[in-house]
Amino acid sequence: MKTTARELIDRGPGLSVGMLTADLLRLGEELEALDAAGIELVHVDVMDGVFCPMTTVGPPIVKALPDRFVKDVHLMVDEPLEKVQAYVDAGAGIVTFHVESTRHPHRVLQRLAAAGVVRGVSLNPGTPLTSVEPLLDEIELLLVLAVNPGWGGQSFIPSTERRLAEAQTLVAGREIVLAVDGGITKGNVEPVAALGVDLIVTGSAVYDGVAPADNARAMLEAVRRARGEATRPPDGRESPAVMAGVTKEGE
Ligand code: DX5
Ligand code: ZN
Repeated sequence: MKTTARELIDRGPGLSVGMLTADLLRLGEELEALDAAGIELVHVDVMDGVFCPMTTVGPPIVKALPDRFVKDVHLMVDEPLEKVQAYVDAGAGIVTFHVESTRHPHRVLQRLAAAGVVRGVSLNPGTPLTSVEPLLDEIELLLVLAVNPGWGGQSFIPSTERRLAEAQTLVAGREIVLAVDGGITKGNVEPVAALGVDLIVTGSAVYDGVAPADNARAMLEAVRRARGEATRPPDGRESPAVMAGVTKEGE
């Protein structure tokens, strides 16, 4: 399914569920669990073993995903310029690539502009937010990573809260979806949603090998609870106490 930045911002904060830890041999059933819970976005982590250590999936899997979901493709691949079209052709609704992965982020965005997808850029935790400043006129989504790319199930890096506040200032007044990815659990999804992000990516907290439908439902309910509080203040600031106690479950 296609979507727009406007829709995602108006509806937000929304939940996009990563299938990295889903059972790929039972992917159909795994996706039904999301459907049952009312999840509309599926986040596909594409890793090439070069930009980050793991290798995962490519365009054929994106194509195989049912079109009733918005296919939210997160490219963690080196030099994405010549690779993005295959994901567009596979039915991606959102294509996000990393500013660190290419010398020509602006050119990649130009290529995506005609493709009818939501165009996103992502930043590793060690990359200054100012690196997207020259691209702000071209992007529709900014994905702030709260973990280093590579694996599901890592802990949310605490400085992400500060980075999200900075990112809000950066995108204020623009039609840019602010998204966060990595380390979001049942224990911290509500305060993260209340920070004023538009889209939250969560993976292993849903696909834990036990109860994906229940997990997805619980995460969605938490996000909905936070919706009342979630705002995008012009100065990008929320209460500094909001992230108190935000850790991975069990820590
Ligand atoms: C990190 C990926 C994330 C991650 C999310 O490289 O981009 O999408 O898999 O998984 P959890 O929610 O388990 O951190
Ligand atoms: Zn991701």
